[in-house]
Amino acid sequence: MNFGLKSRVVLVTGAAGNIGSAICRQLSQEQAIVIAADISPRPQQANVADWLHLDVTSEAGWAEVIATIAQRHGRLDVLVNNAGIAPMGTLEGTGYDEWRRCLAVNVDSVFLGMKAATPLLRETGAASAWFASVVNIASASSNRATAMASAYAASKAAVAQLTKAVGIEYLSLGYRVRANSVHPAAVQSDMIDQILQRYSVITGGTPVEDLRKAMIADHPMRRLVEPDEVARSVLFLASDASAYVNASEVHVDGGLTAN
Ligand SMILES: NC(=O)c1ccc[n+]([C@@H]2O[C@H](COP(=O)([O-])OP(=O)(O)OC[C@H]3O[C@@H](n4cnc5c(N)ncnc54)[C@H](O)[C@@H]3O)[C@@H](O)[C@H]2O)c1
Repeated sequence: MNFGLKSRVVLVTGAAGNIGSAICRQLSQEQAIVIAADISPRPQQANVADWLHLDVTSEAGWAEVIATIAQRHGRLDVLVNNAGIAPMGTLEGTGYDEWRRCLAVNVDSVFLGMKAATPLLRETGAASAWFASVVNIASASSNRATAMASAYAASKAAVAQLTKAVGIEYLSLGYRVRANSVHPAAVQSDMIDQILQRYSVITGGTPVEDLRKAMIADHPMRRLVEPDEVARSVLFLASDASAYVNASEVHVDGGLTAN
């Protein structure tokens, strides 16, 4: 699949994770200039132009990363806010510090990232035949609440609405920048493996494989999403193939949230 992203400068957060690494791999295949950022170390197989250490909850960290990109590349065509965490637990079992950490990593990060990157995105859009693009990874949980995930659901609903507000604001200010969110259902990933382990403990020892079967049965496609399927939607929103798509939610969920 060719999305015409050759030589576009793209920053991807959470690049060491399952979805982030799929996004980076597909962007590299498109010959985009991929700047990967994560709090975790660079995986050996990462085939990217730059690997930058970034704690997405740090305003100073964001300023440094954007300054580095401006200095090395002079432009930023696409920002992908993908870093995230999924603490699971009952409301009563969720500590205030855990709630705040979830909101910080999943929502503050998107606010800080867009705020730091907007001047460079705006300059890039103004100097290009195409719009710069922000792609924020939300979740099916933005739209469909599930038990034992209140902090995560709240954080991802906030990402969706924050994205829409900023997407509309960009155009109202005359910026040539679009912003959209991607909403995957449960992805075949370490994050889901860990969630199932935690559900197993919370539910008093329900076998993980029984929980996995129930999760799959809940998905209309009767399978989980592949990281590459999420990545393809990110590339679509990053590219001119989605030129008229702004302040929108792209659901990669096989119809889960349409029910
Ligand atoms: N896995 C799923 O089923 C699923 C479904 C819907 C949405 N999502 C969302 O997709 C995104 C990626 O998920 P994933 O499955 O690849 O998870 P993952 O745990 O494999 O990857 C998340 C990455 O974010 C990084 N990260 C965490 N805290 C950070 C911080 N403070 N600063 C910088 N980086 C940080 C981690 O190091 C990791 O590399 C997340 O936002 C997640 O909420 C995942």
